[in-house]
Amino acid sequence: MNRGTKVAVVGAGRVGSTFAYTLSASGLVHDIVVIDADADRAEGEAMDIAHAVPFHRPVQVRAGDLADAAGAVVTVITAGAAQRPGETRPALLQRNVEALRGIVEEVVYANPGGLLLVATNPVDALTFAALRLSGLPSAKVLGSGTVLDSARLRAELATRYGVDPRNVHAYVLGEHGDTELVPWSTTRLANMRLQDYCALTGSSCTAADMEQVALRVRDAAYEIIRRKGATNFAIAAALTRIVEAIVRDESSVLTVSTLLQGQYGIDGVCLSLPAVVGRQGVRHVLPIPLAEEEEQALRRSADVIRQALQSLGL
Ligand code: 2OP
Repeated sequence: MNRGTKVAVVGAGRVGSTFAYTLSASGLVHDIVVIDADADRAEGEAMDIAHAVPFHRPVQVRAGDLADAAGAVVTVITAGAAQRPGETRPALLQRNVEALRGIVEEVVYANPGGLLLVATNPVDALTFAALRLSGLPSAKVLGSGTVLDSARLRAELATRYGVDPRNVHAYVLGEHGDTELVPWSTTRLANMRLQDYCALTGSSCTAADMEQVALRVRDAAYEIIRRKGATNFAIAAALTRIVEAIVRDESSVLTVSTLLQGQYGIDGVCLSLPAVVGRQGVRHVLPIPLAEEEEQALRRSADVIRQALQSLGL
């Protein structure tokens, strides 16, 4: 039976289940399969989400196993371990790569034509691992990257300067993590550079202001995790936005994590740059003009991700 547009979600933890719910309420797809190593958990989440469908638009939400990713336009991978007390990031990465291996192999076997969208952290290294493990072309394997961080930046600037976030064009680039960067030279409010917007409106945008904004964005996840133990709503919205661009073939420019192939002299690492995203995945990576110090910061970010990959022998 052709059930229309299908999306599979692997991992029914807080991120996976919140994403499945957000997607179910969006009206974007017809069929959502929730998959988890804990089948009961997947079943419970799918039942709970399905019971909300009468309040939204018709969509089938069910639990399944990895073979049920067959026919999905995109499989969203949120499964993974959280850091144990005292555990180093490379050790966490190693554990999550092992888990990812089995998932990617089964999903690609069941669904060789679909895209993979990785959300599990550390997302850039795991996107690269998924790309290598899958054998898929680089366009078809993407990570949530800094789509969320870019939204946090837009929200921060919108609140600070009292303007609709939809009139803020701003990106966070590089690693989804501590080395991410805000390329202020490319940031626009109402189509103006930030300095011009501030001069026009009598607002303050000193270097210290910008530094504070960038730090608030970079550290947002730490601040939220400190208070509630995890983040789930905004990442779910970010994943839904990426899936929207894919299933509607929008050619949207989103800062997904994607393989770099020589841009800014960076090669063989997945990180976030503005990229054109549609039904076939990443259509183009856009190496937008950056200031010299921004390019250097991006290369430093790539070096950190590369070190993580080397620790895995990738
Ligand atoms: C976030 O940035 C923790 O990656 C997660 O919300």
